[in-house]
Amino acid sequence: MNPEERDGDLTRQPQDSEKALERSLRPTTFQEYIGQTQVMANLETFVHSARREERTLDHCLLFAPPGLGKTTLAHIVAHEMEVNLHISSGPAIDKKGTLAGLLTNLARGDVLFIDEIHRLTPAVEEALYTALEDFEFDIIIGEGAHAKSVKLPLQRFTLVGATTRKGMLQKAFQDRFGIQLRLDYYEPKDLTEIVRRSADIMSIGLNDDSAKEIARRSRGTPRIANRLLRRVYDFAVVQQKSGIDREIARYALNQLGIDDAGLDELDRRILQTLVVDGNGGPLGIKTLSAILGEEAETVEDVYEPYLIQQGYLQRTSRGRIATPKAYKHLGTKLPRGHQASLDLEENND
Ligand code: ADE
Repeated sequence: MNPEERDGDLTRQPQDSEKALERSLRPTTFQEYIGQTQVMANLETFVHSARREERTLDHCLLFAPPGLGKTTLAHIVAHEMEVNLHISSGPAIDKKGTLAGLLTNLARGDVLFIDEIHRLTPAVEEALYTALEDFEFDIIIGEGAHAKSVKLPLQRFTLVGATTRKGMLQKAFQDRFGIQLRLDYYEPKDLTEIVRRSADIMSIGLNDDSAKEIARRSRGTPRIANRLLRRVYDFAVVQQKSGIDREIARYALNQLGIDDAGLDELDRRILQTLVVDGNGGPLGIKTLSAILGEEAETVEDVYEPYLIQQGYLQRTSRGRIATPKAYKHLGTKLPRGHQASLDLEENND
């Protein structure tokens, strides 16, 4: 492990050590990457084609819930194209000048990764348009009557934009990206392999059953799987086990508040709120997040997509609804007529 990535510096914040852990486990080549088979095979083709013809890669847009590897993909693209990677994010590029600074620093073919690209301001987004299309940047020099517009030439570069929310991007902006990829939650078998690979890198002994158990309860998300692996390992260390077995994995995951279905405490509170306070729903996102004391964006982007994918929750035009699976999970009796109202919502959508 790179010395700066070690967790020994006690002045660091916990997030730093988590980030360092993530970095040390991150695959950097197509070869090392596990899962998302179709998406990765396509991306590999686009990269190889660009390399063979010595072109720069078209701009890429990635859609995915948090933790599925959008940054990892940008690293792989840059590594495989043998160019530099520059990392920024929508909220960090708050002015046109910041964007100008980033763009004028790029060498030919470099990858600029902008995370949370849906959070760029309209002015910055507009400035990015010409840069993406014509590889020029319009700047205004001087003020008032002396102000004049100058076009700065840019090197041809590749923008990799990432967002959790497809609906938040203007169609015209989205159309600027020749490559659009969508990452979905990982299959349990792929996540199991990721857990095994990470355990190998960290020299943690774990058997197949425990790798499966950790993977099964990680919401289809490598970032969560790697974090849980680390935390389960802590329990094994304290209990003086030589490695992780299924028993210690199950014990640790329960202690961490992750239930048998892989839902965490906030997942359960969301379902509980819908079922108890909302009488099953529909409950609007604002009301739901106010009751939970959480940001609506966190509930919408981080929690709901998995609950929907797993069939615990439905999003409808009138609000969120708990499904019979949610009632069953909470051990609560389904009220009479709830199924009928769900069917009605489904037909109306
Ligand atoms: N670590 C995190 N995500 C990974 C992936 N998709 N493949 C291999 N290792 C990973």
